[in-house]
Amino acid sequence: MHYKMSQWLLLAAANTAAIHAAAIPDPTAAPVQVEVRAPIITPAAIRFDGSHSYMLDRRGKIEDILSGVNDKLHSIGSILGTDVPSYVVSGVPNFFQGFPTGDDVKSKASLKDDDIDALPTSALNIPPYANWTDDGWNVRFHGNVYKMPNISQDTIDDLAGIFLIDVDIKDLSESEKANARNLTKSIFIIQQGDQDVSFHLEPAPSQGSSGEPGGGGAVTPPGGSQNISFPNKTTGLGGFDAFVPINVSGLLLGNETDQVQRLNVYTNGTVDGNATAFLVPPEGITILSDIDDILRVTKIYEPKEGLLNSFAKDFRPWENMPEIYANWSRSLPNSTHFHYLTTTPEQATRNYMDFIYKTYPGGSFDTRPLNFSDVSATLSIRRYLLNKIFETFPRRKFVLVADNSNSDIMKEYPQLALDRPNQIQCILIRNTSATDENNVFPYDTKVFEKVDNRTYMFFKVPDDLKGLDIAGGQCRNDSIAQNVTFGLQDEVLGIHGAGEKLKGGAPVSFVVALAASIFLIL
Ligand SMILES: *[C@@H]1O[C@H](CO)[C@@H](O)[C@H](O)[C@H]1NC(C)=O
Ligand SMILES: *[C@@H]1O[C@H](CO)[C@@H](O)[C@H](O)[C@H]1NC(C)=O
Ligand SMILES: *[C@@H]1O[C@H](CO)[C@@H](O)[C@H](O)[C@H]1NC(C)=O
Ligand SMILES: *[C@@H]1O[C@H](CO)[C@@H](O)[C@H](O)[C@H]1NC(C)=O
Ligand SMILES: *[C@@H]1O[C@H](CO)[C@@H](O)[C@H](O)[C@H]1NC(C)=O
Ligand SMILES: *[C@@H]1O[C@H](CO)[C@@H](O)[C@H](O)[C@H]1NC(C)=O
Ligand SMILES: *[C@@H]1O[C@H](CO)[C@@H](O)[C@H](O)[C@H]1NC(C)=O
Ligand SMILES: *[C@@H]1O[C@H](CO)[C@@H](O)[C@H](O)[C@H]1NC(C)=O
Ligand SMILES: *[C@@H]1O[C@H](CO)[C@@H](O)[C@H](O)[C@H]1NC(C)=O
Ligand SMILES: *[C@@H]1O[C@H](CO)[C@@H](O)[C@H](O)[C@H]1NC(C)=O
Ligand SMILES: *[C@@H]1O[C@H](CO)[C@@H](O)[C@H](O)[C@H]1NC(C)=O
Ligand SMILES: *[C@@H]1O[C@H](CO)[C@@H](O)[C@H](O)[C@H]1NC(C)=O
Repeated sequence: MHYKMSQWLLLAAANTAAIHAAAIPDPTAAPVQVEVRAPIITPAAIRFDGSHSYMLDRRGKIEDILSGVNDKLHSIGSILGTDVPSYVVSGVPNFFQGFPTGDDVKSKASLKDDDIDALPTSALNIPPYANWTDDGWNVRFHGNVYKMPNISQDTIDDLAGIFLIDVDIKDLSESEKANARNLTKSIFIIQQGDQDVSFHLEPAPSQGSSGEPGGGGAVTPPGGSQNISFPNKTTGLGGFDAFVPINVSGLLLGNETDQVQRLNVYTNGTVDGNATAFLVPPEGITILSDIDDILRVTKIYEPKEGLLNSFAKDFRPWENMPEIYANWSRSLPNSTHFHYLTTTPEQATRNYMDFIYKTYPGGSFDTRPLNFSDVSATLSIRRYLLNKIFETFPRRKFVLVADNSNSDIMKEYPQLALDRPNQIQCILIRNTSATDENNVFPYDTKVFEKVDNRTYMFFKVPDDLKGLDIAGGQCRNDSIAQNVTFGLQDEVLGIHGAGEKLKGGAPVSFVVALAASIFLIL
């Protein structure tokens, strides 16, 4: 979800020297108007990694960090010109780019090295997938190692305030407070670089009895217990991400089974570094899904609401989408694999996994890694992650699911259909613009023009997906009018594509739309 806005801000940042201009710490003050020039793509001024932030060279107090964030946001506000509401400007980037480094956290919590040594080690172990190779099963272990300092609740509440727009944490309900504190703590962590990582693997119970039978429930392998060392030490930001062959007896061989197998993966030396690994046979269907605004209600296109939904409110499913997924898990062949791919920064994704496992079929995950700057395509995190899974399963067919408020999805999904037509089964896009009049962001359907129109569908409600014969290659429900025109679409601006006209927008909406168009042109 986040990629759209964050990319936009990144590019905005990359294209202006204003970012470095003198600080005006009040983000609610009227932004200075500046001229928007033709964009030149240059390397981003802000990098997406754990050490990227503009707080990097700051030491000491929280106020410094806060004013640092505000300065930066203010500058971005200036790029957009006149009356962009401050929440549009100040909310989203706080969420995406305000993540501190271990050094920031250390100094802020006044921690000494001895204090830190005494803290227990934690690991965020992202549920991996594995492919079958000549060397046996090959598991992509990925995640990060960190320590969580004991920061006082008052300080956590101050820090949570960075992420909430026009809302005081004191005004939230008790459960919302708990959620906001939980997420804030998970962001203010001390990454542990240069660490050895090892795992204990053992057969995991099938979810078939408690969850859905079929691919999402998967099966328990007859054996497969193993201790395994990750071949590399963690990066400077505590990250680890590599394929490791696990040649161990007791697993069903990938060339002899059509079942997805589940293994529990425990990170040695931690209590919270567990995950479920999914051993996926070479052929079958992978349902690859974004999460925000397709599996849960986020409304990231309404930044204030989107942030409350991300930081404070309990995650809730989007309408009856769980029923659709449960039905796919039950009715598609056993070889069906579910993969959840979100570009939300890794530190903030424990809630995502928790929510998905309680609500949707079990499956592997991808998130925005901490050390994404290692990858040259800093602005193409989604493409990078998509390419990786497509390369890992060259004989599988993918069903790509998301909503149209992500500009990277609107580009990458159809592009994959053009680049790897044999691997695309269906592309299913929820049209949030057509159903939510508060979504004023334009979206671009241009790349779909070259794609066979039998392979994709724009839809409005989960029920539109009922009755599709996905395994048989039926991706379009003919009773759902498509109305697709190709190019830039915007309901508020009166340009309609896969959707119908909505009531006109207020001037503010227009400015937001305009800002987003600038991004789209970029
Ligand atoms: C897997 O391990 C067994 C011994 O445990 C060995 O005989 C076999 O060659 C190994 N297979 C591969 C592909 O490494
Ligand atoms: C965290 O610090 C508070 C005091 O600030 C203390 O009461 C509490 O026991 C500490 N918790 C842990 C786990 O150290
Ligand atoms: C936050 O919530 C997640 C998911 O419910 C949980 O796994 C995690 O332990 C919690 N973290 C903290 C710091 O309370
Ligand atoms: C894995 O290591 C643990 C100790 O960390 C040990 O108790 C266990 O027997 C080992 N398991 C295997 C399969 O080697
Ligand atoms: C990981 O370790 C292997 C050797 O075990 C080495 O060849 C490789 O370059 C290392 N990768 C990274 C990212 O450090
Ligand atoms: C599957 O692969 C293993 C080696 O990895 C081989 O021993 C076995 O014969 C293969 N099974 C089939 C059905 O090809
Ligand atoms: C687990 O980590 C401990 C130290 O935290 C180490 O002594 C032990 O050897 C490790 N076990 C394995 C199986 O890697
Ligand atoms: C990790 O372990 C906890 C406690 O046993 C459990 O609630 C959670 O579901 C596990 N997570 C995964 C991804 O297996
Ligand atoms: C799917 O797997 C279950 C066992 O988990 C089995 O009972 C069922 O027959 C399998 N279905 C097919 C179509 O192979
Ligand atoms: C397994 O995944 C790795 C990593 O993406 C890839 O290089 C390899 O080609 C895949 N193997 C097979 C047999 O598909
Ligand atoms: C799909 O494209 C064909 C032409 O390539 C067109 O005739 C048909 O109307 C299109 N179908 C839909 C539902 O847009
Ligand atoms: C297509 O247009 C018709 C008529 O305007 C409308 O009823 C329908 O909801 C639209 N379909 C979609 C998918 O936007």
